[in-house]
Amino acid sequence: MDFLCVEGGKRLQGSINISGAKNAALPLIALSLLSKEQVTLHNLPNVVDIKTFFLLLKMLGCEVEFLDTHTTTLRIPKIHNTKATYDIVRKMRASILVLGPLLGRFRYCEVSLPGGCAIGARPVDLHIKALEKMGAKIHIQGGYIVAEAKEGLKGAVINFDKITVTGSENILMAAAMAKGKTKIINLAKEPEVIQLCEVLKASGIEIKGIGSDEVEIYGSGGEALELPSNIYVIPDRIEAGTYLCAGAITNSQITLHQVNPSHLGAIISKLEEIGFKLTFNQDSITIYPTSKFYPFEVSTAEYPGFPTDMQAQFMALATQCEGASIIQERLFENRFMHVSELQRMGASISLHGNMATINGGHELLGADVMATDLRASSALVLAALVAKGKTNIHRIYHLDRGYEKLEEKFSKLGTKIIRDKE
Ligand code: UD1
Repeated sequence: MDFLCVEGGKRLQGSINISGAKNAALPLIALSLLSKEQVTLHNLPNVVDIKTFFLLLKMLGCEVEFLDTHTTTLRIPKIHNTKATYDIVRKMRASILVLGPLLGRFRYCEVSLPGGCAIGARPVDLHIKALEKMGAKIHIQGGYIVAEAKEGLKGAVINFDKITVTGSENILMAAAMAKGKTKIINLAKEPEVIQLCEVLKASGIEIKGIGSDEVEIYGSGGEALELPSNIYVIPDRIEAGTYLCAGAITNSQITLHQVNPSHLGAIISKLEEIGFKLTFNQDSITIYPTSKFYPFEVSTAEYPGFPTDMQAQFMALATQCEGASIIQERLFENRFMHVSELQRMGASISLHGNMATINGGHELLGADVMATDLRASSALVLAALVAKGKTNIHRIYHLDRGYEKLEEKFSKLGTKIIRDKE
């Protein structure tokens, strides 16, 4: 197993490019299951989750051709299998994204139930209820969601009780295949969901209300779609946010290219509140050093609120703010696994339910720490950047799931970081 060794205490400088968004690429790859012709996806991040998802598509019968590390062509000559096996789904929960497209187009599928994960129970009941409302017969057998729609899916009114990102994406794709109109109320508004809506529209699906929490979709009645032959994945706002936190925690000036600043509103506002100045171009952001780090309060929320995927990174940053910062996690019940690791580095953090109070301004010390999930792992890298001495971060396979070339990018910014074997 690999681990990372980070030497703390150095200021960063320079610039890096941000990769394509994993969470935008995954639904677009799933969408290709609905395509008549071949589709080429560009600006894919070269990360493990994307490779895992391609493996699943291959198992279903897709032809996957890697043109380079960021560009892949997908063809669906004949799907010989509509089963997403436990083996793949347990590695990556987002595999659930094949449920809507497979059922919509092929009228039958089996998808392993994802089960819980490090950050919480993460049920998929809302995906299932919505598909049932569209006429699917669904039962659970041997740990699999077995879904059938003999006559094809039918348009319906779906009112999500809770905002769910992959749930919204699944139902958008199912609705594109359904017969008639589907109205989705309380749809997620994340940029990744909006990109999916826009690609559906460019594929000839009539879809009204893009960008709002209520959309109407007129499905094809099961006909395969004419997807655009080239699709460009939007930049990763969470990777960008993580590197902005790296600039902030080390009080450095760094520039990120290939970003969309308009997707980073809540993150940028919070950094400004802490005391940082940032400047923007159309596709780049620069963060500058500040004279004082002010403590802050934040609650995670659905987009355009503050992303839960940035909560751990801001907790690392809070350890350097002078005074008490408060972070409330509203989306996932167990997303504080990084707290005990940050405490091992000397952070003063107390937990009360879903609320963490961080008494910042103390020096962190390098230690051996363990990554527990994707974003918690990046928070440990951030803490290591300012810790005194060396920090060894173990179990970094979590980081490899979602951060492309992490040590290369940090090295380019001047960090002493090496990957080694245990
Ligand atoms: C997606 C993102 C993930 C991010 C999360 C929240 C992808 C691949 N992953 O995950 O990085 O942290 O959004 O922004 O895009 N819920 C239910 N029933 C359901 C579905 C969800 O109760 O059927 C609950 C979840 O347990 C959670 C909340 O709804 O408390 C939001 O989860 P959801 O938006 O579905 O997260 P994901 O789509 O899995």
